[in-house]
Amino acid sequence: MILVLDFGSQYNQLITRRIRELGVYSELHSHKLTAEAIKRMNPKGIILSGGPHSVYDENSFRCDQGIFDLDIPILGICYGMQLMALHYGGKVEKAKNREYGKALIDIKGQPVLFQDTPEKQTVWMSHGDKVIEVPETFQTDATSPSTPIAAMSQPSKKRYGVQYHPEVRNSEYGNHLLKQFVYEVCESEGDWSIENFIEMEIEKIQEKVGDSNVLCALSGGVDSSVVAALIHKAIGDQLTCIFVDHGLLRKNEADDVMKVFADDFNMNIIKVDAKDRFLSKLKGIDDPEKKRKIIGNEFIYVFDDEAAKLENMDFLAQGTLYTDIIESGTETAQTIKSHHNVGGLPENMQFELIEPLNTLFKDEVRELGSQLGIPDRIVWRQPFPGPGLAIRVLGEVTEDKLKIVRESDAILREEIAAAGLDRDIWQYFTVLPNIMSVGVMGDARTYDHTIGIRAVTSIDGMTSDWARIPWDVLERVSTRLVNDVEHINRVVYDVTSKPPATIEWE
Ligand code: XMP
Repeated sequence: MILVLDFGSQYNQLITRRIRELGVYSELHSHKLTAEAIKRMNPKGIILSGGPHSVYDENSFRCDQGIFDLDIPILGICYGMQLMALHYGGKVEKAKNREYGKALIDIKGQPVLFQDTPEKQTVWMSHGDKVIEVPETFQTDATSPSTPIAAMSQPSKKRYGVQYHPEVRNSEYGNHLLKQFVYEVCESEGDWSIENFIEMEIEKIQEKVGDSNVLCALSGGVDSSVVAALIHKAIGDQLTCIFVDHGLLRKNEADDVMKVFADDFNMNIIKVDAKDRFLSKLKGIDDPEKKRKIIGNEFIYVFDDEAAKLENMDFLAQGTLYTDIIESGTETAQTIKSHHNVGGLPENMQFELIEPLNTLFKDEVRELGSQLGIPDRIVWRQPFPGPGLAIRVLGEVTEDKLKIVRESDAILREEIAAAGLDRDIWQYFTVLPNIMSVGVMGDARTYDHTIGIRAVTSIDGMTSDWARIPWDVLERVSTRLVNDVEHINRVVYDVTSKPPATIEWE
């Protein structure tokens, strides 16, 4: 395992990702980890990440200096290299200006991290302070016109530092450098892969669960589907899934989930038809936050009722991802919308949690899902909110309005897939804003609903831009929506980014 210590750089997760892509397991941990704790973890190497601070800031992040006494190779990146330089007695200069962007470095001699790469190479710099004098026992491995010490090392102690960011694709031989560190310096085995993960995790699950039983809330979303499939592979019928159909799902979604998991995977699934229960609770409610709270709470009551009927359930499976774990605590405090994940943990239930995906990133979860045989339409599914179509029918939710959104959403999805855009657009759906307008169809006046198309590109859903869907695709969608869906006589396209709007309309 390669341990990445997090000093707050925006690229810290990326380092962990790159190492895993090289076939070596890697974890990101807080810079507060003590040398003692690290020794117990027994990593093959340590990477000190970059960070936004100056080493001279009063509150800048520091690490346990005992780390440098461990007999474990260390690579310092950017801020990490500056910390290393200071520790061993080098000099770091406080920045007057930041250096940001591409730089050309010159490699000196034949340093191991640069083996088999050209003498001059382009790298990505993003730093303020810089090392201006290497510690006495160190050598300079690379220079650039504005950063005379772009890389340094103390090979006998296996201490290495680079001022630039090898984890960013713009650093031409960055991946090679990480590979050299991980394999040549740390002598890692290179045995991390999703296939191995499946094997190891199955053993772990079997050992943990023994002959007890596991309960899982299956929503048909990527994470809960992959968790269920993995646990099912490990313990078969000792897994029971509860699938709550709250009547707010997309067209054919409930049937599809049942077909894949109950029929094809042959899992024990209790499907709860709770449509009436949810719709009656939502009757007369038009405030978005109230709608969300009602759905979130109702989900837990339904789940609770069903779980109470089962006996000997000791474990509850959750699809927590690695990013959920490393991002918790850094999330912005203000509640813009109270998000509700179907599959949330009922508060008063006495289960031991089992979270087999909590070391994986989203794309690793997708690969895992594919290897477990889950079809692409589920593994590559676009994000779908827990409260479902209820937050796409603005105002009060009724069955008639749900039908309009459901039918129009299905058409939009068909056309986006037919145009080959389904993996490029982060999310695409329709909303019913509850606006009636005048139209003319077949010489007759109509007074009917407007439907909105929302399609956005995004990396993580935190910010987004509206997708530039080609006009001919929009034209086809528009024509089909007014022709094929009853009660639509006008189609509008939402061209707002997030911020200032949000992705969903409620
Ligand atoms: P907003 O609308 O806040 O959405 O820009 C950001 C992303 O989160 C999804 N979303 C939810 N997901 N439960 C969820 O599991 C929710 O209550 C919820 N609300 C919004 C939204 O679809 C987008 O991907």
